[in-house]
Amino acid sequence: MKYLTIALAKGRLAKQTLALLEQTGITCEEMKDKDTRKLIFVNEELGLKFFLSKTSDVPTYVEYGAADIGVVGSDTILEEGRKILEVLDLGLGKCRMCVAGPASARELLQKNEIIRVASKYPKIAKDYFYNKKHQTVEIVKLNGSVELAPIVGLSEVIVDIVETGSTLKENGLEVLEEICPLSARVVVNEASMKMQRERITKIVKDLKQALNE
Ligand code: PRP
Repeated sequence: MKYLTIALAKGRLAKQTLALLEQTGITCEEMKDKDTRKLIFVNEELGLKFFLSKTSDVPTYVEYGAADIGVVGSDTILEEGRKILEVLDLGLGKCRMCVAGPASARELLQKNEIIRVASKYPKIAKDYFYNKKHQTVEIVKLNGSVELAPIVGLSEVIVDIVETGSTLKENGLEVLEEICPLSARVVVNEASMKMQRERITKIVKDLKQALNE
């Protein structure tokens, strides 16, 4: 039996996904060892391989077929824009992609002013401002703690993930516009879906059922 390879995004989502897979009878004992430095794990019996990668690389592994299946947030899917099939919304890690900033920036958005937008998600930000709002902006790519940008005067607003809203609140910022809801998705390599359709659809179907239990 050919191995089926599953790419998981390092962190909380991987843990939640593994718990869900376990409900469907798919386990990987090796992966539970917290001290391991191994990157790839095998379940010989089920013919499955698992690996943990940086979140933003999951769609890349899946597009190139290095992983047949991946589990990753829809923020990463949108930002990476890879040619992959999105087959299931796991409903995990629900949050929102938003434009945020100080209350005073609301006016700048309404007046279509040329403003600076800082984000870890330049593609999503560009698509929103250029294609949806038809507002010309300057996008500045940052790699984290994006909330700092409007506070220190790097940008007027940010495009970022809002989950509880507490990071914004504690920094005197607020949601100004909502771009889209986000959650974890199961993605599949296009060729794998053709060659291994039966095995992949069984896993997806079992996951769907586990979600409803
Ligand atoms: C994310 C996001 C926000 C925060 C939102 O950051 O970029 O900063 O979580 O969560 P909240 O609405 O519940 O406060 P993350 O922790 O991934 O770190 P980062 O700042 O490095 O992006």
